[in-house]
Amino acid sequence: MSGGPTVLVTGGAGYVGSHTVVQLLTKGYQVVVVDNLVNASKGLPVMRNSVFKSRSDILRVALVGVGRFYTYMLYFKILMRFTGINEFSSDTECLRRVQEITGKKLKFHHVDILKKEELDTIFETYDIDCVMHFAALKAVGESVQLPLLYYKNNVSGSINLFEVMSKHNVKKLLYSSSATVYGTPQKLPLTETHPTGIGCTNPYGKSKYFVEEILKDLVTSDKSWSVISLRYFNPVGAHESGLIGEDPQGVPNNLMPYIAQVAVGRRPDLKVYGNDYDTPDGTGVRDYIHIQDLAVGHLDAANKLLSPSFSGFKAYNLGTGSGLSVLQLVKAFEEASGRKIPYEIVGRREGDIAYCYSDASLAKQELGWEAKKGLKEMCE
Ligand code: NAD
Ligand code: UD1
Repeated sequence: MSGGPTVLVTGGAGYVGSHTVVQLLTKGYQVVVVDNLVNASKGLPVMRNSVFKSRSDILRVALVGVGRFYTYMLYFKILMRFTGINEFSSDTECLRRVQEITGKKLKFHHVDILKKEELDTIFETYDIDCVMHFAALKAVGESVQLPLLYYKNNVSGSINLFEVMSKHNVKKLLYSSSATVYGTPQKLPLTETHPTGIGCTNPYGKSKYFVEEILKDLVTSDKSWSVISLRYFNPVGAHESGLIGEDPQGVPNNLMPYIAQVAVGRRPDLKVYGNDYDTPDGTGVRDYIHIQDLAVGHLDAANKLLSPSFSGFKAYNLGTGSGLSVLQLVKAFEEASGRKIPYEIVGRREGDIAYCYSDASLAKQELGWEAKKGLKEMCE
């Protein structure tokens, strides 16, 4: 591969990974994606809400979609021969769209990070400058039911990756962490110095925290490692092309995809989990950040990571710095889409907290990054 630095992106066929790959390709990085496609987005057309004003719109789009599907299948088979994607399945559709958006090619390998020998081959094949590690399972409820699966995938999988990186002397890593590592906030807004791990109540959240701790120990033991951990708040929205976005399978766990499905009639109403929190309207307050802002944050962090002066472990919050309640988000969505979002107040969801929002000033000071997109764009 020739051109800018080569970035290995684990989990690059997923929601955050695919949007970040768009940014990387746009900025001239060479990208190698590994993903086992366990939760890769199928890249189905994102339902940009303002487009669907009536049922006939949905029908029209569905009919056009079926017709196009067969044409695209033919195109894709031809395209496959010329792109870097070395495996065709409907699950890699998202990465094909990433290439369509950027007009650039990437390399894709169907690799499970639990399989060390497969990772090893990747590092033997490419001259990798740094790794962005997104691959993880992320359903909180499922993690409570299947803790061993989550620890194996998220923790053992990460250790495999770090061992293979070490073996090949690739020691620059950007880690996808989460605001969930802060547990129940002791003080708001959440700064990077807030204690972590205390009050992480589910195996998913703990797996994110454990991997951060492993990384801290790793950089202490070997000063040639450089690690940046990005603690995301609540990523929402989609690429402006509408070609890629979040498309959860089954019932969405998170608020924004659920609202989007209510808006297009896929679900009758939103269940609002509690209106008796100590917040202005009683519903939970979160720091929603546009996925494209989040993706840009990875590039700014990569700049720092790749600079010769950076070493050690550093964590940054990627959030907007302000919170919105569930009902505020519902209202904003109604305004942006022109559609009513029926909702019903139900009991609190176990493990939920009243407030969670960031102090994002460290990322601004040290990475030169700040969220730019507003609520309207998040709801489009
Ligand atoms: P996602 O499920 O859309 O993407 C994760 C990708 O990793 C998927 O494509 C999946 O197929 C892949 N994957 C999982 N296990 C793998 C394995 N063993 N080997 C190879 N590939 C594997 O999730 P996302 O929302 O894009 O999240 C990406 C990262 O960001 C995760 O680490 C997640 O914990 C973190 N994060 C996400 C959010 C969020 O709300 N989306 C918030 C905070 C942190
Ligand atoms: C979720 C994850 C958390 C992750 C974070 C960032 C859970 C339990 N937690 O938390 O691990 O770090 O996303 O992506 O999944 N809500 C409703 N009705 C719904 C869905 C949500 O009222 O159908 C409310 C929730 O109670 C909460 C707010 O909407 O107040 C946001 O919920 P959600 O999108 O799940 O995000 P988090 O709770 O922040």
